[in-house]
Order: sequence, then C-alpha cells, then structure tokens
Amino acid sequence: MFGPSYPIARQGQEQTPLVLRNILSYVSAMSIRPILIHPDPRLKKVCAPVTDISRGLQKLADDMLETMYDAPGIGLAGPQVGKMQRFFVMDVSAKETEPEPRVLINPEITWTSEEVNTYEEGCLSIPGIYENVTRPAMVRMRFLDIDGKQQEEEFGGMAATCAQHELDHLDGKLFIDYLSAIKRGMITKKMKKLKKERSRE
Ligand code: NI
Repeated sequence: MFGPSYPIARQGQEQTPLVLRNILSYVSAMSIRPILIHPDPRLKKVCAPVTDISRGLQKLADDMLETMYDAPGIGLAGPQVGKMQRFFVMDVSAKETEPEPRVLINPEITWTSEEVNTYEEGCLSIPGIYENVTRPAMVRMRFLDIDGKQQEEEFGGMAATCAQHELDHLDGKLFIDYLSAIKRGMITKKMKKLKKERSRE
C-alpha cells in the first residue's frame, strides 16, 4: 500500500530492516523485486498458507521490505511480487521516527471494531491511483512472526487500514474492488495503458 499520497522514503544503510537480524549464518544483500501491476491474474488469486518459515521466505521478506521502502510504500503482500503465499510486510511508523518493519505470516482477523474509518488508499500494484476506502477502524489479527511465533495484535489508525488492505491481497482482492464498477473499469484501463507504455521502454 502507498502512504496517503505522501511518500515515506527510507533509504540508506542506517535504515536496514531489523528482520535482517533473524537471518543467521549467512549474509546476503537485499534486492529490490519487481512489483506486479494490475491487471495481473496473480493479483486475483487466493494465496496458500505458509507451511514453512524457511530462510528463503525470510530473505524474500527482507527483499520485500526493501522494495516497499524504495517504492516508497507502507505495505507489500506476497502476491505483489509473484509469491502466492499468505504473508505481507508493512511499516506504518511516522516518517521522522525509527522504522518499524513488520512481517505478518498467515494473518487472520479475529476481531473488527464496529467503528469505521475512511482513508485515501493507494497500492504499489496500482501506481498513481488514490481513492477513499472505508474499513473497520480497528482490527485484531493473529499471525506468525518471522520467527514462527504466534502473535495476536490490535491495529488502529493507519496500521488497521494497511493490515486489512494487505490481507485483502492474500485473498485476491484489491482496494479498487471497493469502488464502483465504472471507476474500477477506468482505473484498470489506465493501468493497462501504463503497462503497455512500460513494456515499450
Ligand atoms: Ni496494495
């Protein structure tokens, strides 16, 4: 997910995600992965649960965090880099504070508030498009962290919106699916054009 139309740029070595510490016994440079752009059939699929938190997955999560910071964005889900598994990364910390990289594996919603919030959402797979989406203002999620430990956490504010937006990706759902069919059609047309232009470059 993009930030609410302001960029959260965090680049440079001092910003190395903390999850890197979890990668023991080898050191490898992180790399930026290409992000799939809508429309793409992989963005419409329901992802499979993660069954093994392997080093490969930890490396991929680090790559995804780097890719997200570079974009810049505040959330990125497995299918957006072509990995059809149920996990996403996010960092909704404020620009001026320390980064708070998170990896949520096999996330499930265990509670949502009745109160709702409307945020202007964007998506790294739908660049340049921002629309208001209304979702529960608070949400509790159960998930595995990058060490395979089960966690349950309550998210509010931007984190609640971001976590729900990313969880949607794991079910093949995009934020434009909350818009009218006409609006969605226009956005899809725009994205098709963008992809065509990019493929010519
Ligand atoms: Ni997204």
